[in-house]
Amino acid sequence: MNNTKSQELYNKGLKHLVGSVNSPVRAFKSVGGNPLFIKNAKGSKIYDVDGNEYIDLVLSYGPMILGHGNQHVIDAVTKQVNEGFSFGASTENEIILAEMVCAAFPGMDKVRFVNSGTEAILSAIRLARAFTKKNKIIKFAGCYHGHSDALLVAAGSGLVTYSLPGSAGVPDSAVKDTLIAEYNNIQSVKAHIEKHNDIAAVFIEPIAGNMGVVVPTDSFIKELRQITQDAGILLVVDEVMTGFRSKFGGAQDLLGIQADITCLGKVIGGGFPVGAYGAREEIMNHVSPLGSMYQAGTLSGNPVAMAAGISTLTELKAQNPYEKFNQQAEQLEKAMLDAAATNGIDLTVNRFGSMINPFFSKKTITNFTEAQECNTAQFTKFFWGLIANGIYIPPSQFEAWFLSSVISDEDMEKLEKGLNKAMRMLVHS
Ligand SMILES: Cc1ncc(COP(=O)(O)O)c(C=O)c1O
Repeated sequence: MNNTKSQELYNKGLKHLVGSVNSPVRAFKSVGGNPLFIKNAKGSKIYDVDGNEYIDLVLSYGPMILGHGNQHVIDAVTKQVNEGFSFGASTENEIILAEMVCAAFPGMDKVRFVNSGTEAILSAIRLARAFTKKNKIIKFAGCYHGHSDALLVAAGSGLVTYSLPGSAGVPDSAVKDTLIAEYNNIQSVKAHIEKHNDIAAVFIEPIAGNMGVVVPTDSFIKELRQITQDAGILLVVDEVMTGFRSKFGGAQDLLGIQADITCLGKVIGGGFPVGAYGAREEIMNHVSPLGSMYQAGTLSGNPVAMAAGISTLTELKAQNPYEKFNQQAEQLEKAMLDAAATNGIDLTVNRFGSMINPFFSKKTITNFTEAQECNTAQFTKFFWGLIANGIYIPPSQFEAWFLSSVISDEDMEKLEKGLNKAMRMLVHS
């Protein structure tokens, strides 16, 4: 594979960009080597600057659920660009997207649009504290909720303890009210609730995607809903990744729970910067200008981003690709498990709807500790094997792969062949 131009750009970018990237997940740090630079993308494929073609299972880390360059989205965005980029004033499209989002989430009466998932979550922390007048929050090890101070907390194996900052620059004071629990372990949540009477909210990814895909057990998620409700603690469901991915609406609906506050991002902007947080009226009325919780944004509800969001959701509803996602994910799971068995490799595949990823481990993966125990050296080899076979996946064992609605039967054949070859390369290269 020729990646000369990517290498050249990477080296050039080092001078004025930090690590030549604008988000560390793009840096290929955990798989070695340097990042590919992308030139363009269309449909299910993405092309790097050297002209290599890949089937894209990164999809901008989730948003591009319709694949790249959907014509309806291009038309809507182009029309809006011609009418104006940003006004700093209200537009009808904000109301239309709000109606669409609230209709898809039972229990969400009102929504506030922001510019990223991170912003949605940090606003939800403030809102939960404003509503409950309590301070502490619980998060689960291995769940990522953006890079706000309070939730950038080391996951590690030190469970059910007061947390330590997970990033330089996060003061102890910023995380002193953050408690860590273990995913799929309801006792770890109960222990916090028994000990502390000032917990405002529990934050959870309803299907975890940031330790690789980890699905909650039915009893864990339902009990979590019950015990938070009984204790007057808000359940904040972070659907930044899962929103409109596993069904039209949220994963919480599929899991049979209802959030107090829901956070969204990624798909609702169709590739443009949009995040959102929403809840029932009595909670959202605490947000300024109706209430005293302040949150604002110069570009919030940006007209171009709203147009992209509306057209993406409209098209998604019309296509209804969710059953196809399940079938394709099942096919990919089987292909990987068969290839692993043939080559004597320990492998577990976790999936939910259009989110899937393999773990190089023979154990069931139900939490972050188990995810961290898998063989990342094998993942690294597998990653480069897939790249060599025209398949672009996230450069980390701990990221979900995503499916887009434009993956064709021909793409599926290519994927199955590539997965097979890359698995064989683990033992025969
Ligand atoms: C579940 C979840 N929450 C929040 C975020 C943060 O979103 P953003 O990167 O748009 O700030 C992410 C990003 O990957 C995410 O996966």
